[in-house]
Amino acid sequence: MKIKVGVLSAGGDCAGINSTIRWLVYSALDKDLVSRRGIMFEILGILYGWKGLMEVQPDKKASLKKWTMPLDTNIVRTWDRHGGTRLGTTRINPFEPKKDKSDLIVQKYKSLGLEALVVLGGFDALGTAYKLSRKGLNVVGIPKTIDRDLSETDYTLGFDSAVNTITQDIDRLRITAGSHARIFVVECMGRKAGWLALEGGEASGAAIILIPEHDFLIDRVVGLLEMRRKAGERYSIILVSEGAKPRGMAEIYEKRGRDGFGHYYLGGIGGFLAEEIQKKTDMEVRYVALRHLQRGGTPTAYDRRMGRKFGIAAIDMIVNEDFGRMAGLKNGEITSVPLKKALEKLSLVDVEKYYDTKNYKSRDQIL
Ligand code: F6P
Repeated sequence: MKIKVGVLSAGGDCAGINSTIRWLVYSALDKDLVSRRGIMFEILGILYGWKGLMEVQPDKKASLKKWTMPLDTNIVRTWDRHGGTRLGTTRINPFEPKKDKSDLIVQKYKSLGLEALVVLGGFDALGTAYKLSRKGLNVVGIPKTIDRDLSETDYTLGFDSAVNTITQDIDRLRITAGSHARIFVVECMGRKAGWLALEGGEASGAAIILIPEHDFLIDRVVGLLEMRRKAGERYSIILVSEGAKPRGMAEIYEKRGRDGFGHYYLGGIGGFLAEEIQKKTDMEVRYVALRHLQRGGTPTAYDRRMGRKFGIAAIDMIVNEDFGRMAGLKNGEITSVPLKKALEKLSLVDVEKYYDTKNYKSRDQIL
């Protein structure tokens, strides 16, 4: 039996995607596995996410070359070492009201001769994958987002590398913050989930961590900074999640409108908070928004390993006809969970369990 499988990445890029694709291809084409399973796989990379599927004209050679990439072990051999996505990605919503392109995607899937589609995505891209599975596509999802906000999995690709970048960047900032005895407000990503701030703050030892799940008081932040100064601390690092907000205020957005899924682009709380603190103290305050630096860089060992596990799981799921589902990690085991369940709600920080609402940092005590 021969099965042609498409693979694409959609939404924000992150570390670990290339590793997943590398191992997916290796597992699909492994000679022993091929003879044991009795299935020959052909793997077709779709370029630039849903856009590639929408745009490709399967009967035209030039178009196939522009929007797809046949994958074999020679091509993907070293991909696991690289961040981002070699297949490219876009943040497109094929089900966008009034611009619905989902039927076109179904049609392209069929005319490309695909019998399964592996989608590496976060909440929005996997939401699209789920809707397409309801239209008859054999979809397998792989969780990838630095936000780690998907339910039914303890891990999403890219998170560990992003936490590592945050940690390294804060290490650098400590040097200049200490030299000048300044306060540094560092803004990280994460959308509505505070995981990046919480775990990035834990790893880097940020003095104050502000997360979207708990609205903060600016006066309390200033009070904590004053206490640290009195205790003899030369400088302080505040790590604030892009979705965090002062009590009584809305989140701060960029001015560039909304994406195809209707989300505003978060960003700006770091600068706002720095200014507010500056108004209330004589300490010198600076801010840095880490922005997309967090998504770049070399994948950590953990993201490479998780990519490997998820890539192999994707092929196993296709062999088992485990469609409409997502590979996940639960208590150290690789699992397959219904996409519907994974998308029911976002996985957010449980404030009571993990966050110290008095001192604005992670709750470290064993309860
Ligand atoms: O979802 C991942 C993420 O990096 C968020 O943390 C962030 O808000 C968003 O993507 C940024 O999106 P874009 O790359 O489209 O600017």
